[in-house]
Amino acid sequence: MRSVIIAANWKMHTVPAEAAGLAATIAARTADPDVMQVICPPFVALAAVRDALAGTGLAVGAQNVHHETTGAYTGEVSAPMLVGLATWVIVGHSERRRDAGETDELIGRKLQRAWDAGLRPILCVGEQLEDREAGRAEAVVDAQLRGALAEVGAGEDARARFAGLVIAYEPVWAIGTGRNARGADAAAMADAIRATLSRLGVADGGSGVPVLYGGSVTAANIAEFLAEPTIDGALVGGASLKPDEMAGIVGRAAVTARARLAVASGNGVT
Ligand code: 13P
Repeated sequence: MRSVIIAANWKMHTVPAEAAGLAATIAARTADPDVMQVICPPFVALAAVRDALAGTGLAVGAQNVHHETTGAYTGEVSAPMLVGLATWVIVGHSERRRDAGETDELIGRKLQRAWDAGLRPILCVGEQLEDREAGRAEAVVDAQLRGALAEVGAGEDARARFAGLVIAYEPVWAIGTGRNARGADAAAMADAIRATLSRLGVADGGSGVPVLYGGSVTAANIAEFLAEPTIDGALVGGASLKPDEMAGIVGRAAVTARARLAVASGNGVT
């Protein structure tokens, strides 16, 4: 069965000294064996957060990775450089698509580098507001997935490559706006995402791939998403910098995780 995952994307917030303290505080308030947690601080705080989280069960992720492994790319960070600092990496965030002009093809190469280095990728997809209003949200996300994953899936070791894949559905209009998607819409998108993954040859029709929701998630609205069986957690931005919010979000996720475990093991009350 799929894990319940709460991933924190700190974006361009925190200097290393405060990142370590914040990570330790969040870990102390949230660590729960039934919820997989990942904190993604800025590159320069990865080592400090790794040290702060040692022994807590929380994992560390990077927010980006370069599409080549080495070379003349001033200011960039490659996947092999992240080994030992992080075990997860966010790829294709909409802010990088917007600010760094990242294309689906480039994002696919980043995914490949992440897998090659043994990093677990969180691939972000999501439509713009005009796409949703025009009824093409699912078509946009389908194209993003196919653009990023088509090449990756071509090899005969595709099953192994896709094994650790996590998808974060983050509608662009919901990010940092306080306007979250509705749980039912996110769940419908999760179904559409798995249908695309199935067409791309992902094992078991994509049923093993966790799909997270991201976009203005808070302790007050997380339950709406976790109530959807096809949603496996959240990628949290602004609220992930606030220990009280994280305590609420992860606490709710733990309730969901235990309920799903009980159902899976046949002890669920139906
Ligand atoms: P907010 O939670 O601040 O809307 O950010 C979501 C996000 O982009 C996480 O990657």
